[in-house]
Amino acid sequence: MKVTIDTSSCSGHARCAAAAPGLFRLDEDGYALPIEGEVPAELRQAAYDGESACPERAITVE
Ligand code: F3S
Repeated sequence: MKVTIDTSSCSGHARCAAAAPGLFRLDEDGYALPIEGEVPAELRQAAYDGESACPERAITVE
């Protein structure tokens, strides 16, 4: 599983980090940081939680 964050769509709502702080992190301006590599199995639900929490649909789980 991979998580892609469309940084051009991210508006800094921070709901991803609030919904799944174990996976999503924000930069100093409050925008989501890219997530590199494969998401570990134990964070799969966190990935989906973050995806559904983003009002800008900036997060894609594949
Ligand atoms: Fe950005 Fe969406 Fe998270 S706008 S900070 S990816 S909730």
